[in-house]
Amino acid sequence: MSGKTSANAWVYTDAYPQGLKQGKINIPSQDGEKVIVEVNACALNPVDIQTMNLPRKNANEKGKEWGIVCDFSGKVVHAKGFSKGDEVFGISFSAFTPLRTGTLAKVAVLDASKTCMINKPVSWTNEQASALPLVWLTAKKCVEDVKPFLTKSGRNEKRVVVLGGSSAVGIYTIILAKKLGWKVLSTSSSRNKEFLQDKLKVDQHVDYTTDDVRAKATAFKPQAVIDCVGGTECIGIPGNLRYISIVGDKTGRETMGGPYTYYDWRAPAYVISQWLRWAKGYVGLGESYDVVILDPKREWLEESTTTISPDSIYIDSVFPFEKAKEAFQRLDTGRAKGKVVIKVQ
Ligand SMILES: NC(=O)c1ccc[n+]([C@@H]2O[C@H](COP(=O)([O-])OP(=O)(O)OC[C@H]3O[C@@H](n4cnc5c(N)ncnc54)[C@H](OP(=O)(O)O)[C@@H]3O)[C@@H](O)[C@H]2O)c1
Repeated sequence: MSGKTSANAWVYTDAYPQGLKQGKINIPSQDGEKVIVEVNACALNPVDIQTMNLPRKNANEKGKEWGIVCDFSGKVVHAKGFSKGDEVFGISFSAFTPLRTGTLAKVAVLDASKTCMINKPVSWTNEQASALPLVWLTAKKCVEDVKPFLTKSGRNEKRVVVLGGSSAVGIYTIILAKKLGWKVLSTSSSRNKEFLQDKLKVDQHVDYTTDDVRAKATAFKPQAVIDCVGGTECIGIPGNLRYISIVGDKTGRETMGGPYTYYDWRAPAYVISQWLRWAKGYVGLGESYDVVILDPKREWLEESTTTISPDSIYIDSVFPFEKAKEAFQRLDTGRAKGKVVIKVQ
């Protein structure tokens, strides 16, 4: 790649899907502020679509080409603390910096301060490595968040409800919870029942398309609920100590979720109910409530390499670089089981 000054990339100029198109990115001179990676594979997340759908702040932003996608695996071209050619994987929020770049590019030029990257285990393929960072770091955040509440409950048996067990975040939340010896009730459609029971070893499966999820979750007597799909059905289960959501009250996947929903005044009813619920929990009236976001901690990403074996990295599908639109369509069905990956080269 030496000597190249530009590289092919997928960019967006407007909201998804019409704004997504092929373009080029400039490869700058190699300075310490940038991480430059020859991308081998990247994985899509709902946030990539939600980023394209964020409101444009002013007319200047119209028509500008911006990069997308956070997760990646590839070879270092330039990065402080790494050697050229090192095989790495990680996550970058460069799309939210003035650089506005992403990893769905033959070469990714990323803001070093917003990039969490480590060496790729030799036994992992690039597709596997790219599939893990964002969802693993979110699952880890969820499990670490509820842990003190389970301890506080004083009960020997720790019981957690994971809403959306076959979602990419739900999968690793369950894996982590089971490793800690917690009992897990989890939801999915019947399509993924066997997967949750046989592979992820949940203690109870609930089919959200046919069962009364709230009634079943209440009977399970959880100390914590981890919501990976959005909605309000299981809020306020008697005896529950902590409710966290990575989405918020909304259930649609096209707009930004997570803590952003506390401020998204396009949906004022959700903003008000979430703040009120959070305040009630904060002063000790009922369960503690919050909408949380992943923490891109390097040590947590390092931990994935010793906790997760390659055969428990779940990939829904792999698309070639040229078929990125089809990959986004697959993600956008909301039916993927594991990650939608793009093989970049
Ligand atoms: N706050 C954060 O830091 C953060 C981080 C990552 C993701 N998120 C958000 O979390 C959500 C999930 O992301 P993801 O990448 O894990 O999603 P995903 O893998 O694309 O989710 C697809 C899965 O969700 C399941 N599902 C859909 N509706 C469901 C429902 N009502 N109940 C139970 N399962 C349901 C589907 O199972 P069936 O086919 O069986 O229906 C499918 O397996 C997205 O809204 C995303 O924006 C937030």
